[in-house]
Amino acid sequence: MTTPTIELKPSAHPLSEAERQKILAAPGFGRHFTDHMVTIKWTEGRGWHDGQLVPYGPLSLDPATNVLHYAQEIFEGLKAYRQPDGSVAMFRPDANARRFQASARRLAMPELPVETFIEACDVLVEQDKDWVPAHGGEESLYLRPFMIATEVGLGVKPANEYLFVVIASPAGAYFAGGVRPVSIWLSENRVRAVPGGMGDAKTGGNYAASLLAQAEAAVHGCDQVAYLDAVEHKWVEELGGMNLYFVYEDAANGTTRIVTPTLTGSLLAGVTRDSLLSVARDLGYASQEARVSIDQWRADTGNGTLTEVFACGTAAVITPVGTVKSAGGEWTQSGGEPGKVTLRLREALLDIQRGIAEDTHGWMHRL
Ligand code: COI
Repeated sequence: MTTPTIELKPSAHPLSEAERQKILAAPGFGRHFTDHMVTIKWTEGRGWHDGQLVPYGPLSLDPATNVLHYAQEIFEGLKAYRQPDGSVAMFRPDANARRFQASARRLAMPELPVETFIEACDVLVEQDKDWVPAHGGEESLYLRPFMIATEVGLGVKPANEYLFVVIASPAGAYFAGGVRPVSIWLSENRVRAVPGGMGDAKTGGNYAASLLAQAEAAVHGCDQVAYLDAVEHKWVEELGGMNLYFVYEDAANGTTRIVTPTLTGSLLAGVTRDSLLSVARDLGYASQEARVSIDQWRADTGNGTLTEVFACGTAAVITPVGTVKSAGGEWTQSGGEPGKVTLRLREALLDIQRGIAEDTHGWMHRL
């Protein structure tokens, strides 16, 4: 694998300071983009080449470009945070780079070297660092690296040309209500992914497959959809775009355990999910991966041992789950309020990301 250098071609017309500050005051999620992007090409026989930092702008694609027809596409999501001393640091870009490689293998695409992935993110954040929101709040700069098949033609085969791109977007809370609990619609007849499929790859197709059930969730007044496994329709997998955690309290001996569904191959190995297994232990909780059935979820909520449920992901950070609705009825977690363990984990993770707590795991990558 060759590692291209990234040539800098900065924009002659970046957004004015006043316009940028207006956006940073209320960034929302995924609505505004910074002044630049990084692009790197891959061609069969030549490898990675023509790395460039260029002004943010449209991509020009032939209508017969492979990705537009057969969806050979993968992406990532990671965040850069303003640190107390004004510098900027990214959270675990190496983990995203490795998952990007795993997604590429599953989609028969070329693997971008980990160091090139990180360098591309570094170059973009360095150039657009004025877009990283101020230290102290929950806002960050969300990076969206992605790769598309750019060969022109309608043959169904792995393409012989690809384009890797990184764009960046200042980000506030993913859910409009911030840390307010979200409601979940349990999709019992639609599945997100199947064994042997590509549920563990971060590819647009999985998100497209989730949209109909997400629309059904909205019809039932819910914010998100939860999926069960495709074979037994019994095991809880994940939400449309984030992982799940269950918090169990053992009142008899005062212990707390957090559990996230096992990676069976049909759910995504979230970086936040993985980080929380360690953060929980740091806080004195037990943490584990295990299969959780929908019947057990309902029963353990009813008998008081399952005290909280929360969703987690790069975009969502940690978001409490409130009401769970299904065709068979509904129930509520932790009285519809954010649970104390959920909030503690959330604060602990954000404190590492914002540089307030010591980075004992070596997760923060400083520019
Ligand atoms: C992320 O959390 O970064 C994702 O890619 C999920 C998407 C729903 C925004």
